[in-house]
Amino acid sequence: MISKATIDTVFETARVEEVIGDFVHLKRAGSNFKGLSPFSDERSPSFMVSPAKGIWKDFSSGKGGNSVAFLMEHSHFTYPEAIRYLANKYNIEIEETEQTDEEKAITDVRESMYLVSEFAKDYFHKTLLKTEEGKAIGYSYFKERGFTAETIEKFSLGYSPEAWDAFTKEALGKGYKLEFLESTGLTIAREDRPFDRFKGRVMFPIQSMSGRILGFGGRILTNDKKAAKYLNSPESDIYHKSKVLYGIFQAKQSIAKLNNCYLVEGYTDVIQFNQAGIENVVSSSGTALTPDQIRLINRLTKNITVLFDGDAAGLRAAIRGIDLILEEGMNVKVCTFPDGEDPDSFAKKTPHDALIAYLDENAKDFIQFKASTLMDEAKNDPIKKADLIRDMVTSISKIPDRIQREVYIQECSRIMDISEQVLVSTLAQLSQKDVAEIEKKQKQDQGKKAFEVVKNEDQVEAQKVDILYRLERKIIEILLLYGNKTEEFEDTFMKTNDDGEIVMVTENRAFKVFQRIYLSLQEDEVELANPLFKDIFNDLINYYLQNDKFSLEQYLMHLQPEFAQEVTDILMEEERLVMHNWEGQNIFPKSKNDTIAQNVSETILTLRWYLVGRIIEELKGSISAEADNTEPMTMIQDYNGLTNAFSKKLGRVMSRF
Ligand code: CTP
Ligand code: MN
Repeated sequence: MISKATIDTVFETARVEEVIGDFVHLKRAGSNFKGLSPFSDERSPSFMVSPAKGIWKDFSSGKGGNSVAFLMEHSHFTYPEAIRYLANKYNIEIEETEQTDEEKAITDVRESMYLVSEFAKDYFHKTLLKTEEGKAIGYSYFKERGFTAETIEKFSLGYSPEAWDAFTKEALGKGYKLEFLESTGLTIAREDRPFDRFKGRVMFPIQSMSGRILGFGGRILTNDKKAAKYLNSPESDIYHKSKVLYGIFQAKQSIAKLNNCYLVEGYTDVIQFNQAGIENVVSSSGTALTPDQIRLINRLTKNITVLFDGDAAGLRAAIRGIDLILEEGMNVKVCTFPDGEDPDSFAKKTPHDALIAYLDENAKDFIQFKASTLMDEAKNDPIKKADLIRDMVTSISKIPDRIQREVYIQECSRIMDISEQVLVSTLAQLSQKDVAEIEKKQKQDQGKKAFEVVKNEDQVEAQKVDILYRLERKIIEILLLYGNKTEEFEDTFMKTNDDGEIVMVTENRAFKVFQRIYLSLQEDEVELANPLFKDIFNDLINYYLQNDKFSLEQYLMHLQPEFAQEVTDILMEEERLVMHNWEGQNIFPKSKNDTIAQNVSETILTLRWYLVGRIIEELKGSISAEADNTEPMTMIQDYNGLTNAFSKKLGRVMSRF
């Protein structure tokens, strides 16, 4: 593990504009920088970097955060990968914390396996480019397939010599241990003489999302019917076939940017597409698609287009994949190729624009796809047609989103010419259990997005939520910007005067802003309603309590990724207004003269006013013609008095909606 000291040094050294500047062309704009969003295709810049705050904000997608968040979002690094990248960029030595012996042993083994694999990749690549045998056999093979030198470089393609142990000998000579050559499967151990697994094959290194070498695929060059066309590295501590997608390293950026991922079957399909200028493509490399592989894509986009060979085997593979993809809540399209073509051969002979056009025109959603491919056999056979419909409904039942399910039911009804009602009831019978589970999951998701959902309910409700939302957001804003400031607040409390009477007095008292907010909310037993704000609130308060000297910069360094979007939204509000030139149009008039204390008091008071109003409404709702209403009526009166007091204090009459 990377030590905390190293992480801190990395954060203190990294300049957000320098880190991002390596990927995005930034232009100075006042005290900030701006550029074109790397997360969407846009013509006018909506991507802002604030060197002062150490954060960035992409106004087109809403994403934002610090340097590390950028690397995680943009280059899809994990947190430790991002830290290591930055340490490397700024020449910071990485200090590792002590691991237990067992942990150390595991990391050491895996690290050694990565090193061996990296060495093998370089060895095979060099052999391809620099040796006579490599050039004559391997390189000319790739040329024949139409791969350019650039493509060979991009995928680090290689060649393993046609000799018993050329690679193994070289690796051992360089000090790599036989143990790791074996555990990665590069070498096959024989008591007398270990030998190369991949001898005489062209090599396709398989990389992780972050570019580490996990294993290899090796293609035979002869027409030997007995030998397997492709040999792959065996499962190992670093290579788990079911969790890997060939090409993901080269594809990730493009997938995220174009918001779609093409899924193909083979190594050469991926490479040929890249060469045709389509980079958002990955392959499951001949194995059946797994949920882990789909989730890998799901980190980058919700949309998958399955491309497969125009033969029966390809068709079956595509159909199997569809339901799995739907189950992950993703959108799936299917695109077939003319008979006898696979994505590789088709891309090879089709010019770029025509290829793009073909994909656009022929990608069908799964209902259309099933209808068009399976309908032919089913057309005149009622039993087959019924099977096909059931098959479609089964697929639809896998979709977690209810609205989307409904849309597909409608489509299915139209295409298959059968009533929606029948389909809906089939859907219901088909998988009571499935559906129940899906709904449960959906409810959980909705809980997380409580606000968005409520907003859609109706106008009044939306307005209310909006007020509460804005008040809570304001509280977070104040905490972020002024939490540690000490301010004078007007405080009303009970006191015994000189005559021994208890009286209410109002005095000015100094508080830290965060304490004032925290105590006021606690006094009223109020928790923020928005779950995200509540979490950020607790996090901030804890941070203030634990750190005497709060600095926004420090806080942002350790900002949790879940908070990044909302927090950068709040902090970059001003930049957003400037960017859209809204300030000039006076859409958001600002009361700049308010003191911080005034701002805090007003916000809290307005929140209390709002919450009391809600209680009054509830009470009103409980009044009924039959019951004795004296109690709710008295309470309403009391609360009304309270509201008036609030209004007076706020110096304005506040109307309820
Ligand atoms: N595959 C494999 N082992 C085999 C055959 C295939 O691992 N014996 C995997 C490879 O990842 C291959 C994919 O399945 O890329 C698709 O197989 P296939 O269509 O036969 O290979 P192509 O990619 O078309 O290979 P080529 O064009 O080189 O013949
Ligand atoms: Mn092929």
